[in-house]
Amino acid sequence: MSERVVIFDTTLRDGEQSPGATMNQEEKVRLAQQLEHLGVDVIEAGFPAASEGDFQAVRAIAKAVRDVRVAGLCRALESDIRRCHEAIKEAKHPRIHTFLATSPLHMKHKLGKEPQQVLGMIEAAVSLASSLTRDVEFSCEDASRSERDFLATAVELAIARGATTINIPDTVGYAQPQEFHDLIRFLLERVPNASKAVFSVHCHNDLGLATANTLAALAAGARQAEVTLCGIGERAGNASLEEVTMALKTRACLYNLETGIKTEQLYPSSRLLSMIIGQPIPPYKPIIGANAFAHESGIHQAGVLKCPETYEIMTPKSVGRAGTELVLGKHSGRNAVKSRLEELGFSLTEEQVTQMTEAVKNLADKKKNIFSEDVEALVLEEIYRLPD
Ligand code: KIV
Ligand code: ZN
Repeated sequence: MSERVVIFDTTLRDGEQSPGATMNQEEKVRLAQQLEHLGVDVIEAGFPAASEGDFQAVRAIAKAVRDVRVAGLCRALESDIRRCHEAIKEAKHPRIHTFLATSPLHMKHKLGKEPQQVLGMIEAAVSLASSLTRDVEFSCEDASRSERDFLATAVELAIARGATTINIPDTVGYAQPQEFHDLIRFLLERVPNASKAVFSVHCHNDLGLATANTLAALAAGARQAEVTLCGIGERAGNASLEEVTMALKTRACLYNLETGIKTEQLYPSSRLLSMIIGQPIPPYKPIIGANAFAHESGIHQAGVLKCPETYEIMTPKSVGRAGTELVLGKHSGRNAVKSRLEELGFSLTEEQVTQMTEAVKNLADKKKNIFSEDVEALVLEEIYRLPD
C-alpha cells in the first residue's frame, strides 16, 4: 500500500513573493478554486498580517473553497497569530502556519535573539496557535542551516505545544539532496515525539535543487511537500508542484507514495496562473513548457511515431496537454514531415515526401520556425508547382 503525501500549495503566498507575480483578490480566489479542483490538500492563501489586502484575500479564499484546508502564514508573534486566525477562521478546515528562524545566522543577525529566547517564542507562539485551531503548522525557518541538535529541540518543543505539522524549510536553497534526506531522517529518529506530527519540507530553488531536495526528503519520511505552480516563489522560486507530483507518479514503484492531484489539471492550472500574473511559462519548463512534449530531431521523431515511450516518460494527456508535437526544423526526419503532410490532408508519393523533406530542411536553414502554413506553401511550390 502506498502512503499519501500532503500537497501544500503556497503559490498564493510564497509564489506571490516572486517579483512581478502579485495578484488581486479576485484573481487569488479564482486561482484558489482551481487549486481546489486540481486536488491540492492545503492552500496557503497568504500572510494576513502583511497588509489589509492580504488579510481580505485570505478571508475571501477561506470562504470560497470547502474541500481543501486553508492556511495563513504568520510570524511567531501574538498580534500576527491573532490576525491570521481572524482571516482563516471561517474556512471549513483552517490552519495556522507560524514560523521562526532557528539558524545561528538568522537568530543573531535577523532576530537579535539568543537560542533560549527563540525557544521561548516558539513555545508561546505554538501554544497560542493551538488554542485557536486544532491544525497548527510550525516552520523552523532556515532549518537546513540550523544546528541539528538545536533544531531537534525546537521541533520537539513545537510538537509538545500542539504543532500537528512540522515544516523543515531549505529557505535559501542551500541543501543538497543527500544531506537534506539525512536531516529529515535524523529528525524523525532523534525527536522523541516525532510520530505525533506530519513532517513537511519547503525547498527553494537557488541551486536548481528544489524538486530534488523535496523528493529526497519524501524518500526519507517527510509526508508533506510545500510547492508552487510553475515553481514561482522568492528569488529562484520554490519546488514546483507539477514536477514533484509527476515525479512521484512516473516513478511510483520507486517512491511508493501517492498524492490527491488530478494530474490532467496540471497544464490548465499552470496556464491560468501564467495568464493571471502576466508571465509566460518558459518553453523549456518540464511538464508544462511548450517544448516539454515537442520533438525536433529526426531520430526522436521516428521513435515517437513508432512508440511514444521511446522519448516520452509520461503522456501529454496525463498532464492535460493536447498531444505530442513533432517540430519541423533542420533536424527533423522524413517521418515527421510525412506525418505533418498527412495531418494537413496531402497524400503524396514516397518520392514526393523525400522531396518535401529536403525542401523543409532547406527552409529551416533560413527560417527559425516552420509552421503548417510553410509546409502548405512548400507543397504548392515543390509538388504542384503553382506560381505565387
Ligand atoms: O522559505 C521559507 O523558509 C518560508 C517559511 C516562511 C516557510 O517561506
Ligand atoms: Zn519559502
